[in-house]
Parts: sequence; structure tokens; C-alpha cells
Amino acid sequence: MNPPIPLPTPSGRTLTQLTNTWKLTALLYDLWRVRSLSLLTGQPFSLERELNLMLEWTQPKALERWLDVGTSTGNYARALSTSGAQVIALDFSGPMLEVAHSKSEAKSSSHIIYRQDFLENLTFENSEGPFDGIAVGATLNEFWDTQVALERMAHLLKPGGRLFMMYLTESKTSLGRLIQSPLAASGVRFPLRKTVKETLERCGMHYARGEQHGVVVLELYLKI
Ligand SMILES: C[S@@+](CC[C@H](N)C(=O)[O-])C[C@H]1O[C@@H](n2cnc3c(N)ncnc32)[C@H](O)[C@@H]1O
Repeated sequence: MNPPIPLPTPSGRTLTQLTNTWKLTALLYDLWRVRSLSLLTGQPFSLERELNLMLEWTQPKALERWLDVGTSTGNYARALSTSGAQVIALDFSGPMLEVAHSKSEAKSSSHIIYRQDFLENLTFENSEGPFDGIAVGATLNEFWDTQVALERMAHLLKPGGRLFMMYLTESKTSLGRLIQSPLAASGVRFPLRKTVKETLERCGMHYARGEQHGVVVLELYLKI
């Protein structure tokens, strides 16, 4: 069992992580999020399409235990909870969780538990056992250490458990790399699909399916 790592101090946060703790970021986040995949892929790609794809690939079921890592305003958590699954919506940002909570009250999503913490602090014990599934929408781009986060998620899954990820990978074009470079300096990571796959396979996961549209990657892994 991996011991929890201590919460990083606020001064140790990346700029990106810091901005996620601002109330204004939380209030404006969904204005970006509903358009983000269309803007990033250069084709119509609504949030609804993304959520439907996630549900189709992962097939969450009533009473299953799911974890939404870096829930922000709770879009993945609310979608997962429509199946009757019990969802832990995790985020270290209090303002993000407040917005998520207010949105789920409006939709009376009673299957969601909001938890303010870092993924890196979750263990079997403090998260009440392994999960049937984990969903990670763009949070893979924000971890301190992508490899540590992937290892932790693989560890927290049951055998047969599903891991759904949507993340941005390194651009292959020079314009794309030019745009990504200041973001990288502020703490945004752009993991390579190959590196993600190698890390997860070392942790007993296997690749089930995936799609890539420009820099946007959607992938499903299963725990063996
Ligand atoms: C890019 S947003 C993604 C939000 C959401 N999953 C979505 O699809 O819209 C990343 C979120 O993850 C949170 N986050 C970043 N690193 C985290 C960590 N180590 N543990 C928990 N939450 C984290 C941030 O506070 C932020 O709200």
C-alpha cells in the first residue's frame, strides 16, 4: 500500500494549479469548457459529445464506485452519476468544488460526494477501497508528476476497473509547440501517448481503445 504523500504547500504549486484555486477561474471555467474541445480540435466537438463518448466507453453501472479526478465544476461526475454510480468528485480547489456542488444541487445528483484533496493523497484506506472506474478530464495535464499520478490511479482501481482519460498531448507542429511552450512553463504537461501507455502497462493496465483529434487524446485503459 502506498503511503500518502504530504499536501504540497501553496508556494509549491505551479501557476496553473494556483489559478485553479481562484474563485473567478471557477466561475468562468465552464465558459471555456463547453467550447474547449471544438477550439482545440478545430472541429465541432461539444462537451455533450465528449461526455457521451466517456459513458459509452466506460459503461458505469448503478452502485459502482467511481472517482472523477480533478472534477473542477463537476461535468464528468454529474454524467457518471446519471447511471446511479456513486461518484467521488475530487479536486484540491475549494472554489471549483463550490461551483460543482451548486450545479449538482440544481440537478439533484445525490450520488456525488465532493472531496477536497490531491489525488496523490488517496489510498485504499482513506478512499474506502478500490474503484470500479476512474475518469480524468484534462487533469492529466496538470499533475506535478504525471507518472506518479498514473501509478496512483492504476493502484486505486479494482481488477477489471476502467480508466478513462481525456488529455492534451505534445503538438507535432511548430505553431502548436510555440503555443504549448508558455503553458508548459506555467506547469501544464503534455504527455506523449507512448509514455502514458508504457507507464500504465507497467502498473498492470492494458490499452482498450482511444482516439486522437489534433492534440486531444481520449483513451480507455482496463486494469488486468
Ligand atoms: C483542466 S481542469 C479539468 C476539469 C474537469 N475534469 C473537466 O474535464 O472539465 C483540472 C482540475 O484538476 C484539479 N487538479 C489538478 N491537479 C490535481 C491533483 N493533483 N489532485 C486533485 N485535483 C487536481 C484542478 O484544481 C482543476 O480543477
